[in-house]
Amino acid sequence: MGGTDRPLGPADADGLTPLVEEAGWNQTPADWRLILGAGRGVGAVGPDGRVVGTAAGLPLGGATWVCMVLVSAAHRGRGVATRLTRAVLDAAGGPAALDATEFGRPVYHRLGFRDLYPLTRWRLDPVAQPSSVVRQGAQPRTVVRRAGDLPAVVAFDQARTGLDRTPILADLVARAPELAFAAEAGRRVTGFVLGRPGRVATQVGPVVADDPDTALGLLRRAVTAVRGPVFVDVPDAHTGMAGWLAAHGGTRQRNFVRMALGDVGTLADPSLVSAVAGPDLG
Ligand SMILES: CC(C)(COP(=O)(O)OP(=O)(O)OC[C@H]1O[C@@H](n2cnc3c(N)ncnc32)[C@H](O)[C@@H]1OP(=O)(O)O)[C@@H](O)C(=O)NCCC(=O)NCCS
Repeated sequence: MGGTDRPLGPADADGLTPLVEEAGWNQTPADWRLILGAGRGVGAVGPDGRVVGTAAGLPLGGATWVCMVLVSAAHRGRGVATRLTRAVLDAAGGPAALDATEFGRPVYHRLGFRDLYPLTRWRLDPVAQPSSVVRQGAQPRTVVRRAGDLPAVVAFDQARTGLDRTPILADLVARAPELAFAAEAGRRVTGFVLGRPGRVATQVGPVVADDPDTALGLLRRAVTAVRGPVFVDVPDAHTGMAGWLAAHGGTRQRNFVRMALGDVGTLADPSLVSAVAGPDLG
């Protein structure tokens, strides 16, 4: 199918909500504004002028994060997602990574992506968050406090994950300061958690920490600050996180597979990030 494609910008954010709702996804217009402002998006225009398919790429340092590959049901199976994803890859020109749903995975395989590792989306509901358990802190000498110092969080993130994602972290801290916590040992940052409101549930992530106990302490702290349902996307390799979520009423919502095209460096290593920012932000 030929079809008309056009670049998407932050001004398109509000108009893309129907696509997200149709798919049952969690993004809000604020998420689209971040992605289309910090990254680059392309949309397929339907016969009535509305956008019926999207794909976007976010620069994360050495690689592009491919996200928001979404096609309205009536327009699927005609090569729209393949075409839009290829456009994002061509514009980016280097290695790329993404977290694929079961629907997207065959499309990406055909584009040359390979599987890296599995992740699970966990859902926690308010009744599943007993505050007595959640209040148990991280390690005894670790202090978890509000992440007021963005440069320290960005520096820690870059050192641990090798990613350069300052605009994303800054946006999350600004949008949900009540979910932003940093762990400190002495005066040194040893981990952080950020989050954001979603259409369906509050997304908690990324959780990045020096060790699993600190990561768990951060997750607990952020989850306690949320009133409604929570989504958290955890690489399956983090068995401690998964075990804690399962023990506290968390349910597995869906699976993702991290995939890569080319050498994506640290994005291929599931040990570095205890919970990802989400399939849309990497
Ligand atoms: C995943 C998704 C984006 C795919 O969109 P799509 O536009 O249907 O994808 P494509 O048309 O490019 O590829 C799908 C199929 O159509 C086939 N196809 C490609 N070009 C075609 C063409 N010109 N004519 C007919 N069929 C074509 C592809 O070979 C593919 O075949 P398959 O069924 O064997 O996989 C869409 O199903 C969707 O939005 N799903 C829900 C959201 C989601 O999970 N997104 C992925 C996030 S990682």
